[in-house]
Amino acid sequence: MFRLAVLILSCFVFSGESAIADRYRDRIIGGEDASIQDFPYQCSLQKLENHACGCSIYNENYLIIAAHCLVGATQSDINHMQVRCGSNFWSTGGLLREVESVILHPNYDTDTMANDIALAKVSLPLIFSSTVKPVKLANSMPADGSPVEVSGWGYKKEEVRAMTAKLQMTTVTFLSGKPCSSSLYKYLGEIKPGMVCGVGEDKDACQGDSGGPLVNEAHEQVGVVSWGYGCGKPGYPGIYSDIQTYKEWIKKNAA
Ligand code: ARG
Repeated sequence: MFRLAVLILSCFVFSGESAIADRYRDRIIGGEDASIQDFPYQCSLQKLENHACGCSIYNENYLIIAAHCLVGATQSDINHMQVRCGSNFWSTGGLLREVESVILHPNYDTDTMANDIALAKVSLPLIFSSTVKPVKLANSMPADGSPVEVSGWGYKKEEVRAMTAKLQMTTVTFLSGKPCSSSLYKYLGEIKPGMVCGVGEDKDACQGDSGGPLVNEAHEQVGVVSWGYGCGKPGYPGIYSDIQTYKEWIKKNAA
């Protein structure tokens, strides 16, 4: 009976599409297919040609990424990293560049995940086009409750441990650190300064989306996918590094 109610409800919610088709469609946590034209700053960071993390284009030489994607990497590891930009698919198309060097935030803390931000420098400048463009960093933090978008090739379901072939996006609700630390959610003291949240009912980033961009309605970057307890679990929003906190560090280091 409950299943039937859910089925009827989902027919209603996804009006115009059948609930069955919806169940089998490729999607991340509550996401939908995205077009790289709409997310031209999104790239895939790859280790030994496998997608490892998302990242975003800051300028022709530097990409913004999460520190936890790069922590512990030796120069030999870095020599086996590449980024693919300008493609809907992480495994094919677009523009490939080798990673030359990385800069981790000096205060990145592997235990608390505080300051989970880094830069990756490419070995040859990126060539901008309609599908390869730098992202603008937002001038201010979005208001609590405003819609923000996250994109990536990460898991569609927490249990199905596979990257998604085609770029996905979803819309979540922005929350700054303070309300995200409230007892409405379950992280409490784990939200450190420099962390912000994206709340969604069954909508979230997941493994493999890390390092990727969270953007406001103008598609200016406001966060970097960092961590979460599971993916899309009630009471556990996705956690992002706050671009306002790290904007000056980015500008200085990616010059
Ligand atoms: N740490 C993950 C990664 O390496 C990203 C986790 C994001 N999780 C979430 N529930 N929003 O890809």
